[in-house]
Amino acid sequence: MDFITAVVLAAGKGLRMKSSLPKVLHPLLNRSMLAYVLQAARESGAREQIVVTGYEGQMVRAAVEALPGAADCRFATQEPQLGTGHALQTAMPGVNSACDCLLVLCGDTPLLSAATLSAFLRHFAASGAAAALLSCILPEPYGYGRVIRGENGELLGIVEEKDATAAQKAIREINSGIYCFAPGPLRQALAMLTNDNAQGEYYLTDTIAALRRQGWPLEAVCLADAAEITGINDRVQLSAAGQLMQRRINQAWMLAGVTIIDPGSAYIDADVSIGADTVIEPQTYIRAGSSIGCGCRIGVGTEIAASRLGNGVYTRHAIIDESEIGDNCQIGPFTRIRPGSKLAANVKAGHFVELKKAEIGAGSKIPHLSYVGDAIIGSGVNIGCGSITCNYDGKHKYSTVIGDDAFIGSNTNFVAPVYVGARAVIGAGSTITGDVPDDALAIARAKQVNKLDYNLRKK
Ligand code: UD1
Ligand code: CA
Repeated sequence: MDFITAVVLAAGKGLRMKSSLPKVLHPLLNRSMLAYVLQAARESGAREQIVVTGYEGQMVRAAVEALPGAADCRFATQEPQLGTGHALQTAMPGVNSACDCLLVLCGDTPLLSAATLSAFLRHFAASGAAAALLSCILPEPYGYGRVIRGENGELLGIVEEKDATAAQKAIREINSGIYCFAPGPLRQALAMLTNDNAQGEYYLTDTIAALRRQGWPLEAVCLADAAEITGINDRVQLSAAGQLMQRRINQAWMLAGVTIIDPGSAYIDADVSIGADTVIEPQTYIRAGSSIGCGCRIGVGTEIAASRLGNGVYTRHAIIDESEIGDNCQIGPFTRIRPGSKLAANVKAGHFVELKKAEIGAGSKIPHLSYVGDAIIGSGVNIGCGSITCNYDGKHKYSTVIGDDAFIGSNTNFVAPVYVGARAVIGAGSTITGDVPDDALAIARAKQVNKLDYNLRKK
C-alpha cells in the first residue's frame, strides 16, 4: 500500500436531520462531523483526500477549505445525488493514478478513530483482498445495511434495510459504510451498478456482491467497539455522539492530570489545552482556542472562549471571551470579560464587573459593580465599588488611562477621554471629566448642604 486515497461521501442532504444545514456540517462540540472524518483519514496516512459534495456543495466546500490542515483536499461534485455508489463514481476520475488503496468513508461517521482506520488499512493490505469493509454487531441493527455471509462465513454481499427480507433483517452484523478497495476491480464493479432497488439509488454496497461474482477475494472486518462507526442520521444520534465525543475528550484530560469533578457537566471543545492540577467544576464550558494553565480552579458556571489563562487562576460564574488572564487572577463571581481584555498577574475582577478592551496591570483590583471599557489601568490600582468608564458619546469610543497605585473612590464616573496620574486619589462619587496629575486628590461632586429642621418646617 503505497498511495492511499480517501474519498469522503458528503453529498447527501441528510433528510432525517430536518435541517437547512447539510448533515455533514452539523457540529459535534466545536467541529463539524466532516472535520473529524477528514482528520482521521489524514492521520491514518491518506495521501490524497477527495470530498464528494452535492447538497449545498458550495457551503460544504467552503467549510472544508477553512479547516486547518485541509488545504490539500479536493472535491468532486455529485449532482443530482443518485446514491452512495453514484457518489463514488463521480469521485473516481479525480483519483490519482498512483493510488493502490481507495479508502471510502462517510461524512456522517465522526466517531471513527485514526487508530481503528490504520488497523483496518493494515488488515486490508495484508489480506490481498480486492475489497474490505468494516462491520460490527449491533443489538439493534435497524436502518443499517446487513452483512450477508455464506456457510463458511465468507462475505457475499450487503442488503439494505429497505430491501431486506424478514430473515435478513434479523441479521445483527451491519455495514459501517467504511471500505477499502483496490481501484482496478472497484472501477469494474462500479460500472455494473444498477438502481433496481427499493430506493431507486445506485448503492455502493452492491459493489461487494459484484466483486464476489467476479471471484475477487473479499474481507469483512468486524469491530468490537460499535460506537466508533455509528452513523449519524438524526438529531437524537447527533446528541448521543456529542456526549460520547465529550467523554473521550474529558477522559483524555483527566488522564493528563486535570481534575474534572463531574465529567458529564464539563463541556470542553476539541481544540483546547489545559495544564495539570487544574480543577474543573460543574457547569463549565471551555470553548475552542482556549488555553488554561496549571493549578487553576475553573469554578462553577464559567464559560471561556478563545482566551488564554495563566497558572493558578480562579474563576466562578464568569464569562471570558477572547482575552488574556495572567497568573493567579481571581475572576468572579458574576464577571463578564469581553474581547480584547488583558489582565496581568494577580488581578481581581469581582462581583458584577464587566471589562471590555481593558488592560489591567498587576495586582490591581476591581472588586464590585464596575464597567471598565477601552481602558488602560496601571498596577496596584484599586477601583472602588460602582465606578465606571463613560467611554461612548453616542458616536465614538474614548479611552480612560489610570496610572499605577491610583486609588479610585467608590462610584466614580470617568468621562473619557481622561487621564488619571500615578498615585492619584479620587473622592467617592466624583465625575471626572478632566485629567488628574500624579499624586493629586480630585473631588468632582457638589458639596453637601444640610437644611436644618427641613422636615419640621414642612409640617
Ligand atoms: C449507508 C449504507 C449502509 C450502511 C450505512 C452506514 C448504502 C447504500 N448504504 O446507508 O449499508 O449500513 O451507510 O452508516 O451505501 N451520500 C452521497 N451521495 C448520495 C447519497 C449519500 O454523498 O447520493 C453520502 C451521505 O452524505 C452520507 C453517506 O453518503 O455521508 C451515507 O449516506 P446515507 O444516506 O446516510 O446512507 P445510509 O442510509 O445511512
Ligand atoms: Ca448514514
